[in-house]
Amino acid sequence: MNYKDYIAVVEDYPKEGIRFKDITPLMQNGEAYSAVVNDIADFAKDKDIDVIVGPEARGFIVGCPVAYILGIGFVPVRKEGKLPREVAKVDYGLEYGKDVLTIHKDAIKPGQRVLITDDLLATGGTINATIELVEQLGGVVVGLAFMIELSYLEGRKNLDRHDIFTLMTY
Ligand code: PRP
Repeated sequence: MNYKDYIAVVEDYPKEGIRFKDITPLMQNGEAYSAVVNDIADFAKDKDIDVIVGPEARGFIVGCPVAYILGIGFVPVRKEGKLPREVAKVDYGLEYGKDVLTIHKDAIKPGQRVLITDDLLATGGTINATIELVEQLGGVVVGLAFMIELSYLEGRKNLDRHDIFTLMTY
């Protein structure tokens, strides 16, 4: 199955010059969505992972079904003001903008092995912020899994020490 057949590339969204990779056609197709989730679960299954962490919103779409397959928990990383209890936070830069990401302070126990999932690796701002949050809580990041990598934005270049899994590259 060629997963790219299920990605809609939208020109000039959300602003001029951005070629947005829309994953919703892939998610709408049960066979493609399930194949992607199974591929990531295969990558993860021998890593002795305790918990999956994913940034909102599309990191949930990838990470939750993988957590379900592996029979482990899922921890959401959310934009500021969305988590109701005490949080750790970090500022981060986006491909187009800036924001703050947060995680509940009791979401990860020191030494827990963490897989981070997201739909897309672009500049790497989101994933680096998510790694920082996990490490602030004492978690050990043992892998990063994405549906899509935009290699021309070189997000991978600051992630050398990590085991990275991607299914599509643009
Ligand atoms: C998108 C995408 C990744 C991130 C990648 O999320 O889902 O999380 O940007 O870009 P980066 O590598 O340059 O950080 P966005 O912040 O648009 O949030 P959403 O998933 O809630 O739409």
